[in-house]
Amino acid sequence: MSEKIRVLISEEEIEKRICEMGKEISEYYQGEPVHLVSVLKGGVFFTCELAKRLTIPVSIDFMSVSSYGNGTKSSGVVKVIKDLDEAIEGKHVLVVEDIVDSGRTLSYLLENLKRRKPKSLRLCTLLDKPDRRIADVHVDYTGFAIPDEFVVGYGLDYMQHYRNLPYVGVVEVEA
Ligand code: IMP
Ligand code: MG
Repeated sequence: MSEKIRVLISEEEIEKRICEMGKEISEYYQGEPVHLVSVLKGGVFFTCELAKRLTIPVSIDFMSVSSYGNGTKSSGVVKVIKDLDEAIEGKHVLVVEDIVDSGRTLSYLLENLKRRKPKSLRLCTLLDKPDRRIADVHVDYTGFAIPDEFVVGYGLDYMQHYRNLPYVGVVEVEA
């Protein structure tokens, strides 16, 4: 058995979309500083590219929460693996995530961050699988809405592989 990756969203499409998102987000904050909370590990690739496209002052912190085991199914359990280094009270916080699937991770994370009294709290995701939503999560910025398929690349992994692919693709197992 071998695995093949079918390209779903090309590198060029992703770059173009991130430029658009950067412009939209910069306009929204009107010159005020934004504090990016990047969700490890998958959100890191998108965070770096997006941050480069923001024209407002930017600071970045990282948080790691787990909701998945080492496979393609959600365990439903959300746990903080690494917390933020800095307080977010009074800051405009923008959570940057790779994908919103069931929404469980983000719904937990947003509630957790809200309790720390940020000035504002918004969510930006590269990918969204709206068909899979279980938890109610409001997404402020979406790169691409995609069908219910397990994707890899651009930070997303399958058993810790493929995060480094510069595009988003679907894993196809060949017999
Ligand atoms: P949720 O809690 O179900 O929304 O899942 C969120 C997390 O599950 C994401 O941050 C990803 O790490 C992982 N995930 C969900 N769908 C995929 C996928 O298609 N490929 C790789 N990881 C995924
Ligand atoms: Mg993630």
